[in-house]
Amino acid sequence: MKHIFKEGKTEDSDVLLLLHGTGGTEEDLMPIAQMIDSEAAILSVRGNVLENGMPRFFKRLREGVFDEEDLLFRTSELNDFLEEASHSYGFSREKVIAVGYSNGANIAGSLLFHYENSLKAAILYHPMVPRRGVELPDLTNTPVFIGAGENDPICPAQETEDLKQLLEEAGSSVETKWERMGHRLTEEEVTASSAWYRNHIRNN
Ligand code: MLT
Repeated sequence: MKHIFKEGKTEDSDVLLLLHGTGGTEEDLMPIAQMIDSEAAILSVRGNVLENGMPRFFKRLREGVFDEEDLLFRTSELNDFLEEASHSYGFSREKVIAVGYSNGANIAGSLLFHYENSLKAAILYHPMVPRRGVELPDLTNTPVFIGAGENDPICPAQETEDLKQLLEEAGSSVETKWERMGHRLTEEEVTASSAWYRNHIRNN
């Protein structure tokens, strides 16, 4: 997959896996990674699917309705890519923390839903429930931060509540930061996720 890799400060630094929103690229979340952890390694990936020329991580049938077959295929593809990247760049899979926005948050959620130990933790900005009616792996040691919009027209607030509940039922501890700026990723959300990261990742 097309990507950027930037080494961390030390060999055992955490690795921020950056996953952009629809129409984005691997450059988009680089400044945010810097705000979350300037010493972490960065693996920023571009989605392999194109929708009218806009990169995404999996196909959708229409807004908010995912192509489940493609979601499963692309989630497996990303999981395999992470495995390969961990070997070629020499980092541990146990260090990978996803930072995803919108469609990127949804593929990160899908990794959590389908692959045990695929991520150490996740910061999900404006995610939806990636898939319903499946049993999740044990997420006891996988904390999740969710940034959400009370008035988000693309990711309704109920999706956030449902996602939080499903993750918590699988053992994860989930913190949600609510905003009222629709689907926009706000500076307040990024600041809240950086504080969450310092408490849950850096100090552990
Ligand atoms: C998706 O398709 O993943 C969600 O609707 C969010 C987005 O518009 O990318």
